Amino acid sequence: MTNVTIIGLQWGDEGKGKIVDFLSDKFDAVVRFQGGHNAGHTIKVGDQVYKLSLLPSGLIRNKFSVIGSGVVVDAAAFFSEIERIEAQGLKISPEKLAIADNCCLILSIHRELDQLLEAQKGENKIGTTGRGIGPAYEDKAGRRAIRICDLFNDEILRERLKNLLFYHNLLRKSLGVEERSVDDLIVELNQIRTKIKPFVRSSYEILQKLTSCKSVMFEGAQGALLDVGFGTYPFVTSSNTIAAQVGLGSCMGSDAIQKTLGILKAYTTRVGSGPFPTELNDEAGKMLREAGNEIGTVTGRTRRCGWFDAALVRHSIKMSNAKEIALTKLDVLDWFKKIKICVAYKIDGKIYEYLPQSIDLWDKIEPIYQEFDGWLAKTSDAKTFDELPQNAQKYIKKIEEICGVKVSILSNGAGRNNTIILDEFYK
Ligand code: GDP
Ligand code: IMO
Ligand code: MG
Repeated sequence: MTNVTIIGLQWGDEGKGKIVDFLSDKFDAVVRFQGGHNAGHTIKVGDQVYKLSLLPSGLIRNKFSVIGSGVVVDAAAFFSEIERIEAQGLKISPEKLAIADNCCLILSIHRELDQLLEAQKGENKIGTTGRGIGPAYEDKAGRRAIRICDLFNDEILRERLKNLLFYHNLLRKSLGVEERSVDDLIVELNQIRTKIKPFVRSSYEILQKLTSCKSVMFEGAQGALLDVGFGTYPFVTSSNTIAAQVGLGSCMGSDAIQKTLGILKAYTTRVGSGPFPTELNDEAGKMLREAGNEIGTVTGRTRRCGWFDAALVRHSIKMSNAKEIALTKLDVLDWFKKIKICVAYKIDGKIYEYLPQSIDLWDKIEPIYQEFDGWLAKTSDAKTFDELPQNAQKYIKKIEEICGVKVSILSNGAGRNNTIILDEFYK
């Protein structure tokens, strides 16, 4: 068996959770390697719907799961998620779930700062999830963060908190909010210090364990266009979301990356601010939102919707070396008489096959579309490619051709049964 990395190739919410759950049966372990509880991965098993933010989706099938060192961990959110999932009948035990001891923590001060800074920005806000992800990664890079391993030595913890608060209280003062004390944060951390210990393993121990597995699945969060380096900066998240991050954030090193399965939604969505060349603010956009139930899993915000944008994902595909993709939510397009794919952009008379990084060009983008006849038929009952309407087959082939990828998995509904495998490897 081979390790497989699952990467969202758009702006998140492509259906990564569904695909990880569907495939995880065949893997020995599932690993989250970046992001935090800003993710919202939905998994539908029969009548049960699980919504996971920080926990790896492998836990639904009781697979050994890892929160790798590249993840930022809000320990309080970790325990409330465990409680919520256990209330749905699953058991989450330290035998099945490990957290790397060098993960950085998200504390209440990070959440507060995230929300305060967003409020300050007014109309220019990023539209973050408000969960402290950005400030936590800033502290990691600033070498001020509290890591999980710091929790278990009082003296070190106090010292680290003092150092962290020196910086945060400067910010808090200038933002007009009350300063926090070391004792204050110790009280907060005391609620989780002993509870989290059984889940904590050294990153070396995790490396050893994962290396002994026959096959590991890496579960990306967010999407390539939210990558802090390659996405639509500054309207991005604060971690690297592309496949290269697996080596850094999984505890396993770069040998871990073998095969990448990119996840593409059959149209485009985005939550929060930032450019969106194919966004539809008309009846078609409304239809996508309604048929696709495009409401954010984490924040409950409605997602912005638009046509599939090949110009946008061309770069994402290459950056993650995703030769194969899972195409999701095909069934959402069942209702459309005409369907469009953006193949390139025209900006100031020049043709671009990719999204340029310069912000000043974004407002001038004119998408160049190819238009196709829809199929106006139900696709969710199809069990094979051949059972799909002719025009749906043509649409899939067109995406393969324009994006230079192979569709290995098709998703035509939220449940496990609504999955068509087109490549032997995944059978
Ligand atoms: P993720 O963040 O990439 O895991 O995606 P989300 O879970 O945030 O959003 C995807 C949504 O679409 C969830 O509500 C899924 O249950 C649902 N979903 C996944 N695949 C399909 C599909 O093929 N068809 C339909 N109609 N819904 C799907
Ligand atoms: P999954 O894993 C969609 C977006 C936020 C915001 C930007 C920065 O479910 O696909 P952050 O809180 O990360 O600082 O917010 O990133 N965002 C997501 N959008 N899906 C996600 O995760 C997201 N995680 C963050 O909406 O625009
Ligand atoms: Mg999501």
